[in-house]
Amino acid sequence: MFGPDQPVVLRLLEIEPAMGALAGVAMELDDCAFGMLAGIETTSDLKTAFDGTNWALLVGSVPRKAGMERNDLLSINGGIFGPQGEAIGAHAAGDVRVFVVGNPCNTNCLIARSHAPDVPDDRFFAMTRLDQNRAVSALAKRAGVPVTSVRRMAIWGNHSSTQFPDFENARIDGRPVTEVIRDEAWLAGEFIQGVQQRGAKVIEARGASSAASAANAVVDSVRSLLSATSDGDCASVAVVSRGEYGVPVGLVFGYPVVSDAKSWRVLEGLTHSEPAAALIAKTTDELVSERAAVEDLLLGPF
Ligand code: LMR
Repeated sequence: MFGPDQPVVLRLLEIEPAMGALAGVAMELDDCAFGMLAGIETTSDLKTAFDGTNWALLVGSVPRKAGMERNDLLSINGGIFGPQGEAIGAHAAGDVRVFVVGNPCNTNCLIARSHAPDVPDDRFFAMTRLDQNRAVSALAKRAGVPVTSVRRMAIWGNHSSTQFPDFENARIDGRPVTEVIRDEAWLAGEFIQGVQQRGAKVIEARGASSAASAANAVVDSVRSLLSATSDGDCASVAVVSRGEYGVPVGLVFGYPVVSDAKSWRVLEGLTHSEPAAALIAKTTDELVSERAAVEDLLLGPF
């Protein structure tokens, strides 16, 4: 069983040699002198890449360029995640966890999962933590408080422009956000849209998708699944729905999640106003359409 304090050997999988640059990545990782990094191996062979793997971080996908919508990426990237799921199912360690970052990450995760039917559902994750961090930052800035004051910032649904950053259930220094930021129009408008559009804005500004903040969010995500969630808080992670909050079973859906360091569960019992419920329904519908769009790439009854 892989634990948070164990040294790691990192295997880098070159999914498309023409995309290149893994040698440079390995050099930079060496140059970080990470205390926990016991070795780096580079391969373009799926079996070698996932042989005995405890954590499969599926970062590589064809990145979105300025002007492209995430839907454009569904079919391009779908072909990458099926074979990776299959190799994970066949070769990874018994405790493998699969964390999908490459976009469109929820549906790419769905594809990978469908190709690894023997890996339990609770081992598959997609990244909504970057959205949580963005939302926390925006609320903290607006309230004039440190980011550590903002807690229980849940992102619901898809890592896309339909996601719902749930300010209604978030807390600032233990108080409802609406009591601290007394500007509901800003919260329901600029705040939500700012978080939803932040990825596109970063692409517009740097001509490339987010890199450092995304890498930081991967680390935050893994850490939050491997350590106990503090009381009253949650982490945003997209996981395979078991029907919580009325979401169709099997969708890879962004939820608030709590962990006891060994296992995790969706934080239940949160309530939503009518407008919030409508936004959650919208992002659910988008994920249902994405699932329909990749039906041919899915194995089994999804
Ligand atoms: C981000 O949120 O920064 C990225 O996932 C955006 C993208 O589509 O690459």
